[in-house]
Amino acid sequence: MGLAEGEFAVSYGDDNVEIWITQMGPWANMNTAFIDRENGVVAIIDPFDGEEWLKALSKQDLTPTHILLTHTHRDHTAGVSAIRNAHPEIEVWGHAESVSPSLIGRIIFRRTDFTHVWEQAPNEIVKWNCGSIHLTVIHSPGHSPGHVTLHGHGVYVAGDLLFTMRSGRVDLPGSDPAAQWRSLAMAKTVLQNLPSDWRLIPGHRYDWIDGTTPDWVTIEQALKHNLSLNAPDIDAFDALPFNRFDDEMSA
Ligand SMILES: [Fe+2]
Repeated sequence: MGLAEGEFAVSYGDDNVEIWITQMGPWANMNTAFIDRENGVVAIIDPFDGEEWLKALSKQDLTPTHILLTHTHRDHTAGVSAIRNAHPEIEVWGHAESVSPSLIGRIIFRRTDFTHVWEQAPNEIVKWNCGSIHLTVIHSPGHSPGHVTLHGHGVYVAGDLLFTMRSGRVDLPGSDPAAQWRSLAMAKTVLQNLPSDWRLIPGHRYDWIDGTTPDWVTIEQALKHNLSLNAPDIDAFDALPFNRFDDEMSA
């Protein structure tokens, strides 16, 4: 089950905005795009394989206009340069904190030059609007500095804040477990106030509670079963086994 490599799931809202979702690469990075054909807006979040995105979009005469980054770990920015080379005028958005030089662990972060930055404080909200696309951007650090989530049009794009059953690791350079806990508390409140049938798109397609690896779950499912969202306090959260790993990488 689930999306095959190179497969795109496309859904059409009643708001003129298409949602394209795919998974790419050895870590099953989930990629999402918001597309408004009428106004020529194509905003891709965290492109992993730029060539594949360009190929899929050009088949439908679409041109990428925006790249929105949840954070700048290499696996979330791998496709930026290919898309940017093909479309130098593209806007590249990320949070200002995610390029803070003091936090750069050169091995896991890719130097990414943004054309536009979000600058809000942790757990503050800003709106991102272009054409018919209206997104809510929340600064949600912890897994990495300057991490953001974006939601609108029936999807909550969690980046590496949340996967279906768990949350992102907090043992990397720039990680902050206490900040992650606060970001998760904010996310829980936000999710509780969104329609329960919206999809939560994780940064990676990892195991769900039943051992399957679905591309996404509903917000209702995540609120019910995600271990991090259901941790009663920061100590219980901190003791969850997936916050820290022995391996060196896979950010
Ligand atoms: Fe990451």
